[in-house]
Amino acid sequence: MEKIVVSGGRPLSGSVKISGSKNASLPLMAASILSDAPLVLHNVPKLSDITLMAELLTHHGVQVSYDPATQVCALKANSITNITAQYDIVSKMRASIVVLGPLLARCGKATVSLPGGCAIGTRPVNMHIDGLRALGADVFIENGYIHAKAPKGGLVGTTIVLPFATVTGTENILMAAVLARGQTTIKNAAKEPEVCDLAACLVKMGAQIDGIGTDTLVISGCTRLAGASHSVIPDRIEAATYAVAGAITHGDITLKNVIFDDLLAFWDSLTRTGVVVEKTHTRSDSVVDVRVHVPGDIKGVDIMTEPYPGFPTDAQAQFMALMTICDDAAMITETVFENRFMHVSELCRMCANITVHKASALVRGVGQLVGATVMATDLRASVSLVLAGLAAKGDTTIQRVYHIDRGYERIEQKLQECGALIEREK
Ligand code: EPZ
Repeated sequence: MEKIVVSGGRPLSGSVKISGSKNASLPLMAASILSDAPLVLHNVPKLSDITLMAELLTHHGVQVSYDPATQVCALKANSITNITAQYDIVSKMRASIVVLGPLLARCGKATVSLPGGCAIGTRPVNMHIDGLRALGADVFIENGYIHAKAPKGGLVGTTIVLPFATVTGTENILMAAVLARGQTTIKNAAKEPEVCDLAACLVKMGAQIDGIGTDTLVISGCTRLAGASHSVIPDRIEAATYAVAGAITHGDITLKNVIFDDLLAFWDSLTRTGVVVEKTHTRSDSVVDVRVHVPGDIKGVDIMTEPYPGFPTDAQAQFMALMTICDDAAMITETVFENRFMHVSELCRMCANITVHKASALVRGVGQLVGATVMATDLRASVSLVLAGLAAKGDTTIQRVYHIDRGYERIEQKLQECGALIEREK
């Protein structure tokens, strides 16, 4: 089992290139199922989750090729030869659920393993299923699998009101609706940049989608989609993670390739701690470089996670790591997932002072974290331990590094290039 060892206490300086978004790439890859024409995705990060999605799609009969050097992923679903997404892959990556909508839309039926829960919560998919039923599908659960079947003639457009702005739920229903007959309106749709990136790519493939970026998506179904070429947006959560790396070490680093407006709530909270955040270079109309540096102390700032455009739940653990060394205190409230404080006990083993009451964690700043051997439980909890290790006195060993490799490309190399003492050990 690999582990990462961090020797803390060194301010980071230098620059980090932000990779393509994991959470945009995964549904974009699944969208290849919707068409028999080639879909070419650029800026796809080299991550184990991407490899797993490629494996799953290949299993369905999609031709997938990925070149790590160019980060281009070419997909072509000439024909779907298998409509079943097996438990052994889905259980490793919950995001596999996003093949359900496309399979149902393209083939009229789909059998997808229920993803099951994970460390951060039970993660039900009831809203996915209810949305597909609203489009006319007959869906039942048997032996841990979701069995879905479209009516004769295909799915039929309708109005769907989501009880919660579920990200992959919106993505599944959107991908089903683009090939449904008639118009579909999705109300209370998720507005995350990753959902918008998927919608933008579907439009390039010929889908008719209005309201992208709002909580109401209006889709006029069509009979077939063409191919497209699309560049995946930069990973905003990776950007937030490295911004905290610069802040927690009182360093001065520049993040390259950031869509600044994808993280406005995060930048607002970060700057209120006293960290200076400034755009230093414009690369395109929305992509900039961002410099993060710390002139003085880190103040405690309360945050509450919310669906986009609120503070992203995927950056909560990272922000908590920063708050452990603030000069006063911070209240961190997690409203999206029911159990996303798995990093708290491990941070406390590094001498952080955190008390959890239900959905809120009170973080009282301590003068100094102390390195320890810690265990990761999910992707973002894992990386928060690396961030704490960068600030801690002594060495921190993070075990179960496979969690980190799911969502962070070459993390130790990117941090080494900013002066961190961090190594991966077998
Ligand atoms: C996506 O997960 C992301 N994953 C998650 O990122 C992210 O944390 C989450 O959205 C919230 O932003 C991908 O995009 C691949 P949800 P998703 O459906 O779609 C409840 C990471 O670290 N819910 O928006 O699974 C659910 O239990 C990962 O990169 C239902 O109750 O999240 C949760 O409490 C972690 N029924 C809340 O909604 C449903 O049918 C938000 O879930 C669906 C969701």
